[in-house]
Amino acid sequence: MQDHRTDRKTAHITPEEMAKQRQAMAEIRALADRPQTFCVVTYGCQMNAHDSEVIAGMLMEMGMTEAPDRESADFVIFNTCCVRDNAERKALGNVTWLKEVRKRNPRLRIGVCGCMIQEPGMAERILKQYPFVDLAFGTANLYRMPELLLRLLRDGGRVVEVAEEDTIAEELPVQRLRRDAAYVTIMYGCNNFCSYCIVPYVRGRERSREMDDILREAESLQRDGVKEIMLLGQNVNSYGLGLESGATFPNLLRRLDAMGIERLRFMTSHPKDLSDDLIDAMAGSRHILPQFHLPVQSGSDEVLRAMNRRYTRADYLGRVKALRSAIPDIGLTTDIIVGHPGETEEQFLETLSLVEEVGYDSAFTFIYSPRVGTRSAAMPGQIAPEVATDRIQRLIAVQERRQRERLQRFVGTEEQVLVEGLSRRSDTAVSGKGGHGISITLAGTEKDIGEIIPVRVTGVKNNTLTAERL
Ligand code: SAH
Ligand code: SF4
Ligand code: F3S
Repeated sequence: MQDHRTDRKTAHITPEEMAKQRQAMAEIRALADRPQTFCVVTYGCQMNAHDSEVIAGMLMEMGMTEAPDRESADFVIFNTCCVRDNAERKALGNVTWLKEVRKRNPRLRIGVCGCMIQEPGMAERILKQYPFVDLAFGTANLYRMPELLLRLLRDGGRVVEVAEEDTIAEELPVQRLRRDAAYVTIMYGCNNFCSYCIVPYVRGRERSREMDDILREAESLQRDGVKEIMLLGQNVNSYGLGLESGATFPNLLRRLDAMGIERLRFMTSHPKDLSDDLIDAMAGSRHILPQFHLPVQSGSDEVLRAMNRRYTRADYLGRVKALRSAIPDIGLTTDIIVGHPGETEEQFLETLSLVEEVGYDSAFTFIYSPRVGTRSAAMPGQIAPEVATDRIQRLIAVQERRQRERLQRFVGTEEQVLVEGLSRRSDTAVSGKGGHGISITLAGTEKDIGEIIPVRVTGVKNNTLTAERL
């Protein structure tokens, strides 16, 4: 796979191009036999979840409404992820399953988009192996969906278009998943090239939105009654890179904090870029929640070097210490990969000891999955699946125990819960996230959804907190 670090250019989409897309949306709306209902099926991270909100926004602008399920929709679009093999297989499996649904509903159109489409050779593979896919486009040309869909609906056939560009499209319509909370993307792409990771290849180079555009969007969300904003980027700490204004992430946070949005969160942070200024901005803020997602990936210096993470175990632990001394009781979460090529039992034990030492409030744990074209995939010492499975089980056991132990510190304390929905285990309980980012369950009903409720934590159950209203 080519490393496009230097030969791609970043640009805002021109007003003429945006006008063309708006025109295409209006033309689709006026078509007599266009799809009436849609369903967006999303895989992957928050970036993709937010892209799906944009896709839904554009489809609604074309006059379509959201179908209750994918079986009854006229247009189903899969927004795919390829960060690990299982994410990719799940998406392709579901696309194939829809082939059967189409036999019952010949009007059905099937689209595929997202990170997977940006993989080299994927467009050809879709054309050959998935003849029932009508429309495919990648992350780089998502903003062109109206034009591509119009071409499909007018001319028939199949439309598959993959672009290699690093652009920023402002002012696309967005249909939010939640009324009370919103995602705001502040930067796109990634320049880090961690050896195992495909994201820089499928999301392009880092580019930051202008601070004024972000502030304007945040203001409009605030006017809309949004209580919580989650700022998104593969590496939010390097926000501002390449901007002439000299904007930085801590300064963006300070400006947003001053606007008075009730809750501000962000992800993800690369440990090598976590500055003291960011910690200062958090510690001095009123609205930035006391929580931090700081992916460590491994506790071994050798493995971190092989992963091209550009920090050591000691650097990482130093950042954790700085966060904890500035923001006591900060909720700390992480991502960990086991079974990276060359990882020895001793090196894995260093990850276990780091997890023991840090005491995370939650962790996402993954078995290394080779991605074609990345440096790790070509490294010697690939780890046998049964060894990796054994390691992840031991890791999960330690993490779950540490999580239970650490969560005890919240028992008896007060939290503000933004209620997300009814609890999965009971219909007289609701759950949501407290300020420290931990899931909390309390007695409640549907009418609490979207409200911020003050509670006192009463206990730890199934690795989450239980609480009563104050
Ligand atoms: N930009 C973010 C998130 C990237 S993807 C960050 O740097 O943290 C989310 C997580 O998926 C990563 O943190 C990593 O733990 C995991 N991941 C990425 N590539 C992987 C691979 N090839 N195999 C297994 N896990 C992987
Ligand atoms: Fe992938 Fe590393 Fe970039 Fe995160 S920082 S998206 S893990 S390359
Ligand atoms: Fe997956 Fe793309 Fe996110 S590969 S993790 S959806 S950036």
